[in-house]
Amino acid sequence: MCGIVGYIGHREAYPIVLKGLQRLEYRGYDSAGIALYDGEELKMCKTKGKVADLKNKFEEEVTTNGTVGIGHTRWATHGEPNDVNSHPHYSNSGDLVIIHNGIIENYDSLKKELKKRGYTFKSDTDTEVLVNLIEDVIINEKVKLGKAVQIALNQTIGAYAIAVFNKTKPDEIVVARLGSPLAIGVGEDEFFVASDASPFLEFTNNAIYLEDGEMAVIRRDKDVKVRKIHDDSLVDPYVQELQMNLEQIEKGGYEHFMLKEIHEQPNAISDTYRGRMLVDQGIIRMAGVDDNMERIANAKRIIIVACGTSWHAGLVAEYIFEDIARIPVEVEYASEFRYRNPVISENDVVISISQSGETADTMAAIKLAKEKGAFTFGVCNVVGSSISRETHAGAYTHAGPEIGVASTKAFTTQITVLTLMALKLGKFKGTISHSDFQFHLQELERIPEKVKEALKSDELIQEIAAKYKDAPNCLYLGRGYNFPVALEGALKLKEISYIHAEGYPAAEMKHGPIALIDEQMPVVVIATKKGHYEKVVSNIQEIKSRKGKIIGIVTKGDEEVRDLADYVIEVPETLESLTPLLTTIPLQLLSYHIAVLLGKNVDQPRNLAKSVTVE
Ligand code: F6R
Repeated sequence: MCGIVGYIGHREAYPIVLKGLQRLEYRGYDSAGIALYDGEELKMCKTKGKVADLKNKFEEEVTTNGTVGIGHTRWATHGEPNDVNSHPHYSNSGDLVIIHNGIIENYDSLKKELKKRGYTFKSDTDTEVLVNLIEDVIINEKVKLGKAVQIALNQTIGAYAIAVFNKTKPDEIVVARLGSPLAIGVGEDEFFVASDASPFLEFTNNAIYLEDGEMAVIRRDKDVKVRKIHDDSLVDPYVQELQMNLEQIEKGGYEHFMLKEIHEQPNAISDTYRGRMLVDQGIIRMAGVDDNMERIANAKRIIIVACGTSWHAGLVAEYIFEDIARIPVEVEYASEFRYRNPVISENDVVISISQSGETADTMAAIKLAKEKGAFTFGVCNVVGSSISRETHAGAYTHAGPEIGVASTKAFTTQITVLTLMALKLGKFKGTISHSDFQFHLQELERIPEKVKEALKSDELIQEIAAKYKDAPNCLYLGRGYNFPVALEGALKLKEISYIHAEGYPAAEMKHGPIALIDEQMPVVVIATKKGHYEKVVSNIQEIKSRKGKIIGIVTKGDEEVRDLADYVIEVPETLESLTPLLTTIPLQLLSYHIAVLLGKNVDQPRNLAKSVTVE
């Protein structure tokens, strides 16, 4: 989704804003732009394409220095991706300039009103309407920029994170948020603005995260005044010290962020359980669960809401919660849940899973669940994110920043957190025996080493990728705990290689997908020893007799599938409930290598956004 960056201080703004935009590239975008004020003139440059294109264009066209600037990466919603629709946008007078992430839903009626008052528009965007609305308020109500932004936003319906600059008042930037993230980096006599902290991490670790419905006037060399957009009340800004470091958001020698993040999984998983799982003492500590144990353990039902890969983690969790804690679970796409008038009661616990903690549909689902009286619990990766703040309680995954658009370590760490939670609930409820509980902890502790072992199949997987990279379709099959892994494997392939892929429960194959199988069709089958092994082997035989190409994901030492399959990729043995943490690894690598061989943009696949902040 769109990314916004801003700077006001004593340094040259251009390199800071440009690098900030590069750091936000992972969010997904189709065009980019920058506006700088050099003390006299406001200079703007924008283009369809990548930040690298913007850099070339800017350095050809603009020779300006300035200590205030804003920049934007746009993911088109209103108006096609082109130079004109790219942000920033000027107001009609040319005094104001704005960048915006989100959607102004009533932009059309506002635009008609403004047109009647003589305003003209160059672009098709809702953003240009907003900047002119702000200008109109300044002119008609004779107020300063901050007040005008507030009055204008109170006339809008929709979602936004904005930064606005007025060249006649060059010592301030005004920002506001509702439904889209916005962080303010607080340095020594300088301030940064960004959709997340990554653009300013190298300058400061101090950040203010605006809450929904808040705006701020950031004054050069002075302060940040935060207030509520709706009722004008002042808010004491909380300056948070960030734990992230720069190294975590750079590639560290890997060719792509995705590959780095795949290889980070052993550490990410241990970071997730470190300090929570005390194996010797047979204890799991999770403050968000401990503090609300009765409420969660006595839930009549757990509803899990999420999107994409996080939804797949939710499906794995359904098996774990029901198996271990014996609580009925429903897993829903947040985007469906929020609009289907679901029956929710105070006895329900709604768990939202979100890497970014900003996904608009997941956020809306949580708000709905809260309105209906449910207890809400957030499993997020990004600390301080909107969903983590909106929920009654939660647990972070501690996976570290995930930059590659295709989610990898977020998935395995989400499963880890949810496993800990299920074990903890199971222990409290007495639905898991002491020895079983202990065995799970011991085995979970071994998972990082086993992931490392699974990663060793990389070379074999490259060979398999080369063999099947030109297949137009691919089928992924799994059962039980590994059915969601099949869905996830198919999603990874689709996302980054643009090959059509479907994930299915292996037994469902006979009810349709089997018609697709011929000698052209690679079928990836997860056939680990634990969990319906014999049944899955029968499915493999059915594929083989229809000449499908079989890639088996098997438990180390398996000979039966090896005899039937074209290729087998081994993963170490573990408990059935933990197999997704291992079987996912080869599927991530397979999609990665196929995409690389096909020359695709692995970290920023077309049309995709890392953080989907519009519905
Ligand atoms: C897939 C992927 C997306 C996200 C989905 C939810 O690789 O990254 O499907 O999983 O957009 O995002 P979060 O987890 O941030 O809510």
